[in-house]
Amino acid sequence: MKIKFSKVRSIKKKYRISCCTLIIAASIILPLIVFGYFETPYSYDVELSTTFKEASAVPIGVAVNVNKLRENEQYRDLVIEHFDSLTAENHMKWMYVEPSENQFYWNDSDYIVEFAGNHSMIVHGHCLVWHQQLPSWVENYEGTTEEWELMLKNHIQTVASHYKGQIATWDVVNEAFENDGYRKNIWYEHIGPDYIKKAFIWAHEADPDAKLYYNDFSILKGDAKFTTMIEAIKELLDEGVPIHGIGFQAHITDTSPLISNIESTLNIIDDLNLSYRVSELDISMNQFKTHREYTKRISDSQCERYYEVTNAFCQSPYLTGVTTWGLSDADSWIPAFNDRIDWPLLFDSNYQPKPAAQCFINVLENNYS
Ligand code: XIL
Repeated sequence: MKIKFSKVRSIKKKYRISCCTLIIAASIILPLIVFGYFETPYSYDVELSTTFKEASAVPIGVAVNVNKLRENEQYRDLVIEHFDSLTAENHMKWMYVEPSENQFYWNDSDYIVEFAGNHSMIVHGHCLVWHQQLPSWVENYEGTTEEWELMLKNHIQTVASHYKGQIATWDVVNEAFENDGYRKNIWYEHIGPDYIKKAFIWAHEADPDAKLYYNDFSILKGDAKFTTMIEAIKELLDEGVPIHGIGFQAHITDTSPLISNIESTLNIIDDLNLSYRVSELDISMNQFKTHREYTKRISDSQCERYYEVTNAFCQSPYLTGVTTWGLSDADSWIPAFNDRIDWPLLFDSNYQPKPAAQCFINVLENNYS
């Protein structure tokens, strides 16, 4: 029997096409299986052995949404039960407190400070100087260097004086460095690098008892950004600038930074005799968008991760507090900011404690009881 050459070619072509389809399909489906895309959701029923604040020797804080605090009873009760430190997730930022020039709006931030006072909580103020969440009048401001300085000084001193004696710690400057030097933000452009030093001095003048922090993200890794930041802070300390501590935001993931890097970074801080806070802790479990459900596997690894990082934080006598950035997964900024489903916090979207919450208690108790 004779098979035509063209027929052989078409069989070969078909075979090649189906092979390619198979390889493409496998390379899409296999990683999804490996990373658990098809796993079933984990249902748990956790009864916590105690509260976060009772388990801890340092204040355990939460960044709150003022509207939920006012309106959602379940949210409010959980905040009161577990935390002894509050941060306004947004409502002490410039666009909220000074939305128009020299017109200050205190209702929401006052509510948080009063709420904290009524429930024996301390308040961490966030934040006096940042390049984000600025009102448009600041972004469009036109003036000389001196006028920019006066505008910044007026904001810092009005806010810090308004809360004088009521705020334990302030994030005075937020996110001012990059890997290779100063972030060239609106303050740097109009005032120069000295805006950092001046901000701390002005805040200290307004509230001499508040402890003043420099706060940033991606510094726990201890790489270039940390080194740039810490060298600049050391110089300011040598000049006598009133900086009392470093805030590590700690928006971290299940795998990064490595625990060994976190430990060695914190050792450097210990050697400087500088206080530090873990100011915005959340642990993203879906960085690569590989999961659709919160599975047992994700829960186990989140438990371990909360345990190991908190254990590293607790080793230092210079730790002055740990604050989670949001109360429950439903409140976290991570999903909207990164456009993905995620479960970074200790309570789930129904305000039920996750297994990670018990791990968090265990590690606090193991270190502090
Ligand atoms: C975030 C808030 O969580 C969001 O609600 C808001 O839309 C943007 O800001 N670093 C900070 C925080 O210092 O102020 C940021 O908070 C998260 C990153």
